[in-house]
Amino acid sequence: MIGKLNHVAIAVPDLGAAAALYADSLGATVSAPKPLPDQGVTTVFVELPNSKIELIHPLGEDSPIENFLERNPRGGIHHVCYEVGDIAAAIDRLQADGMTVLGDGNPSIGAHGLPVVFLHPRDFCGTLIELEEVAA
Ligand code: CO
Repeated sequence: MIGKLNHVAIAVPDLGAAAALYADSLGATVSAPKPLPDQGVTTVFVELPNSKIELIHPLGEDSPIENFLERNPRGGIHHVCYEVGDIAAAIDRLQADGMTVLGDGNPSIGAHGLPVVFLHPRDFCGTLIELEEVAA
C-alpha cells in the first residue's frame, strides 16, 4: 500500500540554526522558511536526491509540535511520511484493521498541498506516521 518515503520531519528549537547546519555542515540544498499557519508550523525543506527532510518549528499558539519540543528540547525526529496512491482506501483499510487515524479521520491538506492523514504512534512502533496522497 505505501510507496516512497516522501519526507522525514525533524522538530527543531531554532529553525535558522537547523537550516544553517544542513546547508553548511551537511552541504544540503535548503529552502527559505515557509509558514504553514493551518498546521501550526514553519517549515524548511531540505532537498535530497531521493527524498526530503522537513525541519519544523512551532508557529503561533497551540502548535501541535510544542509538547514534542518540550519533551525533546534539542529537537528530534517527529514523523515519517509515506506516499499512498489512494488515501481514502488507505484510511478504510487501516480503520478496518483497528488502527487509529488521528483527528476526525478525514484527510487535511498538508505542506505540499496534497491530502494527508496522521496515524497514531502507538499502532506503529512508536512512530508518528503521515500518509500523503500522490498521483500514481
Ligand atoms: Co510531514
